[in-house]
Amino acid sequence: MKNIQERINELRKQIERYNYYYYVKNESLISDVEFDKLLKELEELAPVEKVGSSLKDTKFKKVRHSKPMLSLSNSYNISDIKAFMDRVQKSVDKEKELDYVLEVKLDGLSISIIYEDGKLVRGITRGDGEVGEDVTENILAIASIPKYLKENISLEVRGEIVFPLSKFEKLNKERAEKGEEIFANPRNAASGTLRQIDSEIVRERELDAYFYFLVDAEKYDLKTHKQSLEFIESLELKTTGISEILNEEKKIEERIKYWEVEREKLDYETDGLVLKLNELSLWNEVGYTTKSPRWAIAYKFPAKQVTTKLLDITWQVGRTGKVTPVAELEEVELSGSRVKRASLHNYEEILRKDIRVGDRVFIEKAAEIIPQVVKSVKEVRTGEEKEITIPTVCPICGTHLEKENGLVDLKCPNKECPAIIQGTIEYFVSRDGMNISGFGSKIVEKFLELGFIKDVADIYNLKNHREDLEKIDKLGQKSIEKILESIEKSKEREYPKVLYSLGMPHVGKFLAGILSKISKNIDVLSKMSVEELLEVDGIGEKVANSVYQYFKNPDNIERIEKLKHNGVKFSLKEAEVNETIESLPFAGKTFLFTGKLESFTRDEIKEVIEKNGGTNLSGVSKKLDYLIVGEDAGSKLKKAQEIGTIKIVTEKEFLSMIKGK
Ligand code: IVH
Repeated sequence: MKNIQERINELRKQIERYNYYYYVKNESLISDVEFDKLLKELEELAPVEKVGSSLKDTKFKKVRHSKPMLSLSNSYNISDIKAFMDRVQKSVDKEKELDYVLEVKLDGLSISIIYEDGKLVRGITRGDGEVGEDVTENILAIASIPKYLKENISLEVRGEIVFPLSKFEKLNKERAEKGEEIFANPRNAASGTLRQIDSEIVRERELDAYFYFLVDAEKYDLKTHKQSLEFIESLELKTTGISEILNEEKKIEERIKYWEVEREKLDYETDGLVLKLNELSLWNEVGYTTKSPRWAIAYKFPAKQVTTKLLDITWQVGRTGKVTPVAELEEVELSGSRVKRASLHNYEEILRKDIRVGDRVFIEKAAEIIPQVVKSVKEVRTGEEKEITIPTVCPICGTHLEKENGLVDLKCPNKECPAIIQGTIEYFVSRDGMNISGFGSKIVEKFLELGFIKDVADIYNLKNHREDLEKIDKLGQKSIEKILESIEKSKEREYPKVLYSLGMPHVGKFLAGILSKISKNIDVLSKMSVEELLEVDGIGEKVANSVYQYFKNPDNIERIEKLKHNGVKFSLKEAEVNETIESLPFAGKTFLFTGKLESFTRDEIKEVIEKNGGTNLSGVSKKLDYLIVGEDAGSKLKKAQEIGTIKIVTEKEFLSMIKGK
């Protein structure tokens, strides 16, 4: 085992590096959550001395802050906040009712500004918290920061420099036109702008600033934080205007939910909320850690959303023939990864959200699922945006599309559509399926193009094409060897995995496990009636019908026969099943959702539940373990509350359950 000192040094180095990138290079190398974990670990092992970067290669003059610029400790759920409030309560008079101020947490860069006798004399970035960079010239070039205060007083005020969202779009557009690199997000743009040597550039870009903290507020005869915000405003320094006095956990929770949605209407990015103890005289009593006040806490919003531009829509044809719109985006960083495509679910959603090509859109990641377009920002439309039209023919094979579910689903009915065949093959060879390695989408495409495979069963005949394979560009002897080996090995794949790989609609990993357990062999399964299937625990009408229909299709029977002939096994070894089912996080748990959901369509949430081993129920009963409630949940919620044993979770909580698996 590593000794503690070594671990401390390692953590310090890592944190130093991440800070350097974050504060100096404007790049996040890890997510906030991961960063906080490292910091916490270090704090437990040794006191942390520094906040922010070490300013090794700054081009500005270094200036020591009159008082350190502290950071805030982060929280991610209401119970963290409750714990924070309990700690604060314990360190002051136990009977005293405490007020808190709830503000938005601006996602920009912090700045400290000093006025002497009413004149702005200095602007300093946070730097490492102790020493920052003197960016006075640039601060003077920000129009919304007054050069002179209304009164001739001296003070130091702290706040955040942000890039207004409405200006951000314009800036990136201009940069792209000039062939310059675009900014990944408004925070980076603000940071990059403020660190310009030429303050003319700062003036042109129209940065903005909001203030939230007055240093030594008590010197100005102020008693509360709220009063100090009002004082700041009275001097015509800009605040967000969002500062709510609250004292109950319930109310705070309610407001968190409110701001999680409402923040999207603001012209600056926010990454959370800040809760501050209102009464200034209590701040010292409650105290400070080396890096943050104990009288304040930040609440970080969950699925981080960022805005980017919708460049185009691609209509993608899946393995079932379903045609779905995919948003092609200007590349952007979202929770630690680069994103340039996002899901739009279906045409109805495009209409409902009124999304147009050219729009600035919010995207977010829901659980571990692909990013999705949340909404468009109509306020920043230029008039150039184009409405999205619904396709009438398959974008791949040109066949007339069929509509299912009213407008909602479009389907390519051509069984020979290359996209459908490709999707089917990719699903078949995927890790959860036959797990054939070396079979990426490019290779599949090539094999299809050359006519080596027309159906999944043909994969097992590839070995007869060895000479042809060797002629394919870029496919070396070794890779061919590997692919063929992996194909041979897949013949031993367990029955549940084989069943899964067939891709019957609505049959994910978990259901494939159940189906294999009850049937033990595919000949039995193929002869089961809908009624017999319905008798199985965990199988509902949708799945029963889907399985039954699958075996009614002669093409499917032919495929199975071919696979069998080629050596694939379709029967069970007992030990295999339990392994498949029980290793999943929701194994044995039942779910139902009610109300309007934000991150999922109805089919998607069902799929997520099943993929994780859970079972969907169709009604509230004692058998139900979890009820997921969306907006406007009605009678089901009431019934579940009456039963009393059912865990009621919000959509957000459900998302964290998946994440926490
Ligand atoms: S108060 C001693 N209030 O978040 C109190 N900070 O993660 C220090 N921030 O360094 C900060 N909005 O740059 C405060 N309403 C707000 C804020 C806010 C954004 C930033 C600030 C701080 C960082 C901590």
